[in-house]
Amino acid sequence: MDVRAIPGAIQESDADAIVVNLFEETQPGGATKAVDDRLGGAIRDLIDGGDFSGEAGQVAVLYPRGAIPARRVILAGLGPRDDFGADTVRRAAARAVQKARELKAGRVASILHGAGAGGLSVEAAAQATVVGSLLGLYEYHGQKTEASSEPLPQSLELMIFDEQDVPAARRGLDTARAIARGVTLTRDLVNLPPNICTPTYMAEVAGQVAQETGLRVEVLGREQMTALNMGALLAVAQGSDTPPKFVVLEHNGARADELDSIVLVGKGVTFDTGGYVLKSKEGMSSMKNDMAGAAAVIGAMVAIGALGVPLHVVGLAPAADNMISGHAYRPQEVFTASNGVTIEINSTDAEGRMLLADALVYASRFRPAAVVDVATLTGACVTALGRGVAAGLFSTADALRDALLDAGTASAERLWPMPLFPEYEKDIESQTADVRNSGEKYGGVGSSATFLKHFVDYPAWAHVDMAGMALGDGENPYAPGKGATGFGVRLLTEFVRRWSERDK
Ligand code: BES
Ligand code: MN
Ligand code: ZN
Repeated sequence: MDVRAIPGAIQESDADAIVVNLFEETQPGGATKAVDDRLGGAIRDLIDGGDFSGEAGQVAVLYPRGAIPARRVILAGLGPRDDFGADTVRRAAARAVQKARELKAGRVASILHGAGAGGLSVEAAAQATVVGSLLGLYEYHGQKTEASSEPLPQSLELMIFDEQDVPAARRGLDTARAIARGVTLTRDLVNLPPNICTPTYMAEVAGQVAQETGLRVEVLGREQMTALNMGALLAVAQGSDTPPKFVVLEHNGARADELDSIVLVGKGVTFDTGGYVLKSKEGMSSMKNDMAGAAAVIGAMVAIGALGVPLHVVGLAPAADNMISGHAYRPQEVFTASNGVTIEINSTDAEGRMLLADALVYASRFRPAAVVDVATLTGACVTALGRGVAAGLFSTADALRDALLDAGTASAERLWPMPLFPEYEKDIESQTADVRNSGEKYGGVGSSATFLKHFVDYPAWAHVDMAGMALGDGENPYAPGKGATGFGVRLLTEFVRRWSERDK
């Protein structure tokens, strides 16, 4: 969808549909009132008749019958004024464009939700309106052979009442486009079937987007990983005929010496059977999504590159299949990671941390100010925090933890702090090696994070366990349908942007 910000009053637009809004239990104000006045009070009638309350998620369609140039008015509920924020805007904008698509409206014009009475800046309101609109129209058609219909709406015009506000609106719009592009890419990668989205495929896509976005890209194959002694990653990969890939994306690589370095790491298990510690049929049923962390890092790097964030940002996406074969790794085997730490395998299903181990060691070469990994790491995290509620956040540095929590709140990709208690070390003690790769029955979320810590030698590291967040039920209007949410892209992009503003 083509999106533009143009000066003008919404009631003068001749679009196929115009979008206005209403807070719950209020009367129309601002642009909504201007439209309602022209409609002779039709919106007030709707409210007074009890047909529209302004509840979040509610939409109504009115037909102006020539009272204004537009063919239809879409009224979107914002919910209570007290709960209002950028997420309200994203949700309302998504609902409105979905209604417009249902009505086959080709040209839509919208006000900036939240810029007036909502108290958001014009830039923030434009960003949230456009992110919600673009992501709300996301569809995954997969490999269905029936022809998909033409994408509607074709265009969205943000009507900026005060001409002075146009530059700020355009800044928000540009940010939104970059973010939506990253999220869409991530959703597509996560939704793809595992025979298509292999490590090689992920590396190819990363290469393509790197070229489009001006990122530096390097893909390590088996030989290079062997040369780097990545014994942990290679142990997982050896069971599969599909070769592993280690993707390195770099933004501002040429200025690495003058800028702070941030490294983002994502778990890229393109299919997790569990290995010889085989998963059940149910357990395996969503395991094509086990590369959602790596996909989020690739998507975030696209957004960060497009936004030109003034930091040196590196994205690492170690990718491999976890399979069974005559070459597959087994319980009780011992492997040596690239930092020399030896690992006893006691569960072949604890494979994600093996990939992350070597990637976290690799991160060290960039002398990072902060490293953040995102991974669909444990079912235990889903048990603790719930599906789609929050991702678990572990960190060795308070400032990094706080920065991520703030980014989580701003992006509504919520995080919840979890502990790295020293007791978890006991769980991963091994008789035969420095550590073992999984702990006891209880506390699996903490022992997995504690395992990762053995591969970290920099002061600020954070681990985000997003096992419960990669897939959605379609309830969030801007993550429509059952399938990939793109979780992590907006979080990491917001985090990196905020970090770049830190010392200013
Ligand atoms: N990919 C899974 C974790 C997972 C589970 C993600 C459910 C999304 C939904 C991971 O590789 C895994 O198998 N973890 C084990 C850890 C155990 C072996 C220590 C688990 O959660 O059971
Ligand atoms: Mn597993
Ligand atoms: Zn896994």
